[in-house]
Amino acid sequence: MSSNDSNQRVLSGMRPTGRLHLGHLHGVLKNWVQLQHEYECFFFVADYHALTTEYDASENIAQYTFDTVVDWLAAGINPGTATIFVQSRVPEHAELHLILSMITPLRWLERVPSYKDQQQRLNDKDLATYGFLGYPLLQAADILIYRAGWVPVGADQVAHVELTREVARRFNHIYGREPGFEELAEAAVKKMSKKAARLYHQLRRQYLEKGDGEALERARALLAEQQNLSIGDCERLFGYLEGGGRIILPEPQSLLTKTAKMPGLDGEKMSKSYNNYISLREEPAVVDEKIRTMQTDPARVRRSDPGDPKNCPVFALHLVYSDDDTRAWATEGCQTAGIGCVECKQPLMDAINAEQAVFRQRAQQFEDDPDLVHAILQEGSDKARTIARETLDDIKEAVGIRHR
Ligand code: TRP
Ligand code: SF4
Repeated sequence: MSSNDSNQRVLSGMRPTGRLHLGHLHGVLKNWVQLQHEYECFFFVADYHALTTEYDASENIAQYTFDTVVDWLAAGINPGTATIFVQSRVPEHAELHLILSMITPLRWLERVPSYKDQQQRLNDKDLATYGFLGYPLLQAADILIYRAGWVPVGADQVAHVELTREVARRFNHIYGREPGFEELAEAAVKKMSKKAARLYHQLRRQYLEKGDGEALERARALLAEQQNLSIGDCERLFGYLEGGGRIILPEPQSLLTKTAKMPGLDGEKMSKSYNNYISLREEPAVVDEKIRTMQTDPARVRRSDPGDPKNCPVFALHLVYSDDDTRAWATEGCQTAGIGCVECKQPLMDAINAEQAVFRQRAQQFEDDPDLVHAILQEGSDKARTIARETLDDIKEAVGIRHR
């Protein structure tokens, strides 16, 4: 594996909070389903993260973890394509968290926006704990232990990926400066073909002397193509390019999820705590009932009053679920009072139920036989662990605590 392979690696996690809803589907899962075809994907249930806030109500975490995974599978995450696992089953996350905690200044964690926000939002709970302060660092360990290049997250998590980058940089700075680094790097250059070695030197000089970013990109691409360099040599040459030491932990980037926020039944953000959600696997009668009782444009009191789709949460669902024709039909019918709200809602009930039928069908086998899910998680955790162990070995070696 070279540093470039890991740049094509995607990692993301989700806290287990029970059954997922359409907000998760359109905000996260559809994105993951797409990514699994384009990248090497690792998706995990962040059960230790749940514990940072739910430490006194932890009895459901295992069940929620199971439900979360079944919902992922229902939504089309394919365990043959993506690696699916549970955080606590890969203890290397916790071990790396501990090592990183040694080099992370307290103030870096104190200034993460979610730290103060969440403490205020959940003020009935004591979150002035060691674990809660450290949770963005645990997230950094989640990402760095796989040397992931890309982290799909919502806007609220971008600060955590930024912290991850800073921690990686600090780690590389402290532990990437092995004795004799320059000699080792030059020896590694010689392991490439003459032509590649000459080009590497030339591009490195262009970058270091003139700050030529394109030269840096080209040099990285060149390294990525090298078949006969060891991981250690590759890390050295990536680091040497930039004038620093070895890059043991590459800096990840966030892959901001751009899907519009899925509106809830009341037009607010869909959320379990607002009780304005439709679950991923709801009975059709329940879907119908939830949509039938949805608020509409308050100006449309009577059937004969025209309405404005802009002021209607039902229309927000049309934006997600309907094609252009249906949307035009609803808009026109609403503005002219040509259709009633019940009529307007019907295509949504149909579209959502049709989608859910697929999810329910996929989930059925897993509900019938939970061992199938356990086997998927076992296999995923084993696979994740193999990679995590490799990274941790490198890290311990660089830190100087690895015994052979
Ligand atoms: N903190 C994320 C959330 O609350 C979940 C998470 C944990 C995560 N570890 C991660 C996301 C690593 C991306 C990468 O939603
Ligand atoms: Fe909303 Fe449709 Fe009724 Fe207009 S017709 S108010 S868009 S539900």
